[in-house]
Amino acid sequence: MKGSICGRGYGLVRVISAVIILLAISAPVFSAKVTLSPDNWGLEEGRACIDCHEKSSPGLTHQWRESAHADANVNCLDCHHADAVDDDAMEHEGSIIATIVSPRDCARCHEAEYRESEGSVHSKALVKLEKKFPNLNDRVFGEEMTAAGCTQCHGSKIRVKGDGTLDPDTWPNSGIGRINPDGSRGSCSACHGRHGFSKAQARTPAACIRCHSGPESPDGEVYNSSQHGIMYSAHRDKMNLDSDEWVTGKDYSAAPTCVTCHMGAAPGLNATHDVGMRDAWRLNGPVSEKQYLVIFQDGDRRDLPASHAAPRRGTQLSRLDGSVGKVKAVATPGRRRKAMRRVCLECHSKGFAKGFMRQFDTVVKRYNEKYGKPAQAIMNALYEKKVLSPAPFDEPLEFSYWRLWHDEGTRARHGAAMGSPNSTWWEGMHLVAQNFYGTFLPLVRKTAGEELGNALIDQFVSGQDHHSWLRKSTQSNPGLGYGIGIPGDE
Ligand code: HEC
Ligand code: HEC
Ligand code: HEC
Ligand code: HEC
Ligand code: HEC
Ligand code: HEC
Ligand code: HEC
Ligand code: HEC
Repeated sequence: MKGSICGRGYGLVRVISAVIILLAISAPVFSAKVTLSPDNWGLEEGRACIDCHEKSSPGLTHQWRESAHADANVNCLDCHHADAVDDDAMEHEGSIIATIVSPRDCARCHEAEYRESEGSVHSKALVKLEKKFPNLNDRVFGEEMTAAGCTQCHGSKIRVKGDGTLDPDTWPNSGIGRINPDGSRGSCSACHGRHGFSKAQARTPAACIRCHSGPESPDGEVYNSSQHGIMYSAHRDKMNLDSDEWVTGKDYSAAPTCVTCHMGAAPGLNATHDVGMRDAWRLNGPVSEKQYLVIFQDGDRRDLPASHAAPRRGTQLSRLDGSVGKVKAVATPGRRRKAMRRVCLECHSKGFAKGFMRQFDTVVKRYNEKYGKPAQAIMNALYEKKVLSPAPFDEPLEFSYWRLWHDEGTRARHGAAMGSPNSTWWEGMHLVAQNFYGTFLPLVRKTAGEELGNALIDQFVSGQDHHSWLRKSTQSNPGLGYGIGIPGDE
């Protein structure tokens, strides 16, 4: 466990508040790190793997030789060995091995990182994908894209063939919520990269943006055009990425990376493999809501919208997969935000960090009220009245709505969260507005017919103060208007 509060002259108040945050956020979330004992590795038969693979796959073997594992004498067989009863076990040059080294295999030596990852939103990425919009890909492209597209980021469900080899429709894959043959979720190589398994590499923004780029999660673009991304690229040599400990403000201060804010240690705040812990909102989705973080007795976690009553300790709550767990602790959105702000305070003042968060929250709330909720309400009404067929993506209006919240609205919200004015406005809210007024509302009218279309627009859009500017402009010059709020909105 990392994140000491020693080493600098903090005021008493700061130390106390740091300790409170530590207790409030970290204590239930972190489990103790197991002690690594060299008795657990260095299997003698592993030498033969190295000797032969030095010739058959020299690049791979070289990566391993340069790694912390090789330094510590953790060899190929220590990771790849399998029990004959495992689904994916195979006989290979006199040893029983498996190609997949799952997070549970790593857990033999890295229990804390395994538990944090397994409980986190990352490990649920495939489960959610299957639950939420299963038809998008099958309809608009076809199954082949699942293997090469969605699941490369979200993770595949790995299938094993009869002889222990892996089904090429599902592997290679290092998606973040991959379901492994042993039932564990995720892939540690997603960030660490084999066979170096370096923590220095995982600390760079590049480790995240393979998946966190594009409309769904445009964090690479956002970060690179923010002050932080610019400072990082200008001062990468001062980032001390190879350091054993990597505490913000102590080991480096030139710039924050994705890891600094979402996973890294700061004085009084531990590093964590639960990437979602410090996020107060759920920024994706048609409408954003703040979220509790619920921590179950066994370490599993889930988000729960803040509109629900806060679950009490010891009560039962359903998990994402439908099973039920016992609640151990709950972090409110306010506590999650406090942990995130704790990171900022190493390099900025309290007032600055609070002011920034205020600007960000305001964008999310305005997006919700002005575009997200009205568009959602209209869509729901059209499904209810059977104007739209239940199938997603078979009507132009559905694509316009999808772009509104999934592409443009998400870009705007992520841009505001992480300081890119371009993503927030030009490529974000500016496109939301163009789409909403110029495409979405006209399509509502076209799909539903003038009468119903106008009635829905009157009910959910025209009456709102947010849209009153449009009402005024159409009154003074009806020829110019988008036709909203006419007739009879005086
Ligand atoms: C005598 C040489 C030799 C020895 C000893 C050997 N390997 Fe291999 N191994 C190979 C070759 C060659 C391949 C590549 C086969 C291929 O290209 O399909 C391979 C493939 C593999 C694969 C990939 C299988 C897949 O699904 O693609 C793994 C994992 C592996 N070896 C691990 C090990 C481990 C662990 C050991 C030690 C217990 C070991 N090897 C010992 C030669 C060897
Ligand atoms: C720290 C654990 C670890 C060690 C040590 C390790 N591997 Fe691996 N290896 C992995 C992981 C993780 C994967 C990715 C497989 C998966 O889970 O999808 C992998 C994949 C492989 C593959 C198949 C993928 C590819 O890129 O072709 C081969 C072959 C392989 N390892 C050989 C070796 C050999 C040879 C050594 C020793 C020189 C070794 N491994 C040491 C964890 C390890
Ligand atoms: C048999 C024990 C063992 C297994 C299994 C194992 N590791 Fe390690 N790992 C170690 C030891 C020992 C070290 C070096 C000591 C340390 O850094 O704490 C290490 C270090 C690391 C580091 C830090 C590297 C750095 O740059 O300092 C990472 C990351 C890591 N392991 C990831 C993994 C992953 C991912 C897996 C599974 C694919 C895995 N390990 C499997 C024992 C193991
Ligand atoms: C480039 C990597 C990448 C690809 C490809 C990708 N996604 Fe995603 N997806 C992400 C990331 C990253 C997030 C998380 C966004 C966030 O939480 O801010 C996400 C979020 C989601 C969510 C929201 C989950 C939630 O918590 O509500 C769903 C559903 C989803 N993706 C489905 C899909 C489907 C279906 C496909 C293929 C048609 C796909 N994704 C392709 C990276 C990807
Ligand atoms: C989302 C990316 C990501 C994934 C996935 C990931 N890690 Fe890490 N890991 C990191 C980062 C970043 C660090 C460095 C944290 C720091 O020092 O600030 C790290 C550090 C580590 C360390 C070194 C810890 C120490 O105290 O020195 C180990 C060991 C490790 N990870 C193991 C794992 C294992 C095992 C898995 C799979 C269960 C895993 N990681 C999955 C990003 C990741
Ligand atoms: C292999 C793809 C992949 C990599 C690499 C990856 N992520 Fe993710 N990440 C995802 C997906 C997919 C989701 C959406 C999961 C969901 O909502 O179920 C996600 C979700 C998140 C979230 C949202 C959590 C929340 O509150 O909902 C954060 C923050 C995050 N990732 C940070 C990171 C950071 C930081 C790194 C790099 C150290 C990283 N990710 C690396 C795929 C990835
Ligand atoms: C300066 C700190 C900082 C940096 C650097 C940063 N983020 Fe963020 N990120 C935030 C904040 C603050 C939020 C909003 C959290 C909330 O919901 O309250 C956020 C939100 C997110 C989300 C959406 C989570 C949600 O609330 O739905 C993802 C995904 C994400 N970041 C990934 C990344 C990735 C990947 C990088 C690097 C390319 C990165 N972040 C860099 C601070 C940062
Ligand atoms: C490791 C140090 C570090 C951390 C941690 C950090 N920042 Fe920064 N930040 C910087 C640097 C360096 C700059 C660029 C110099 C400047 O303008 O202050 C900057 C610039 C900014 C800017 C633009 C300033 C302007 O005047 O235009 C904002 C906004 C910002 N940071 C917000 C945050 C927030 C919010 C957090 C926490 C979630 C955070 N920062 C965490 C170092 C950091």
